Amino acid sequence: MRITELRKKVGKTDLYVEDLKIESGMIHGLVGPNGCGKTTLLKLIMGITAPDSGSIDYEGLRPSDITMMSQRPYLMHASVYDNIVYPLKIRGEKIDAAKIDELLERAGILEIKDQYAGSLSSGERQKLSFIRAIVFRPKMILMDETLSNLDADSEKLFREMVMERHREDGSTWLIVSHQWDEMNELFDKVHHMEKGRIVK
Ligand SMILES: Nc1ncnc2c1ncn2[C@@H]1O[C@H](COP(=O)(O)OP(=O)(O)OP(=O)(O)O)[C@@H](O)[C@H]1O
Ligand SMILES: [Mg+2]
Repeated sequence: MRITELRKKVGKTDLYVEDLKIESGMIHGLVGPNGCGKTTLLKLIMGITAPDSGSIDYEGLRPSDITMMSQRPYLMHASVYDNIVYPLKIRGEKIDAAKIDELLERAGILEIKDQYAGSLSSGERQKLSFIRAIVFRPKMILMDETLSNLDADSEKLFREMVMERHREDGSTWLIVSHQWDEMNELFDKVHHMEKGRIVK
């Protein structure tokens, strides 16, 4: 994916990405201070927000190939399980209930499978949002601070799951994180953002 001269004014921040290449099959980190425009950039990539000008060349990726785990995940008013199978349903894909249970078990949320998603703790929401995003094996995954509310063991586990998916699918990841030390080992490439610009 290549982002060229992309501009978006949001509040006091003027986002301007002159030239950013998100190489496919790599794990990219996106780091920078609060309010510098990271979430805005992810939303532009997802097409949730329209740019003022500039372009994104998706190089053949279709909207349904890309997923975003939001900083504040939107969950459907339904059970954990129904939230997780939704991406498969809308893509008309087969639902392998045993495989889904296996994923839930691994993530430590199998026992709350039937719980109403709205009642989850913030860490549980993030776990659900992670599983929901990877369940359909997307080609590109955008993660916005998804692991930030997880306890240390869970965070380590989910980092392993990122690596595993990356290995199995050759998927492309763009990960926003403030947990620099822990996450750094995942990144093939790190993009630093400041005041709306990619500075290195
Ligand atoms: N809809 C909006 N209206 C006004 N200002 C906005 C809007 N969306 C974002 N902003 C502002 O744009 C700036 C960039 O926001 P953004 O959410 O992209 O930051 P961020 O880098 O993700 O920060 P954080 O690390 O805190 O998540 C912030 O100053 C924010 O207040
Ligand atoms: Mg953000």
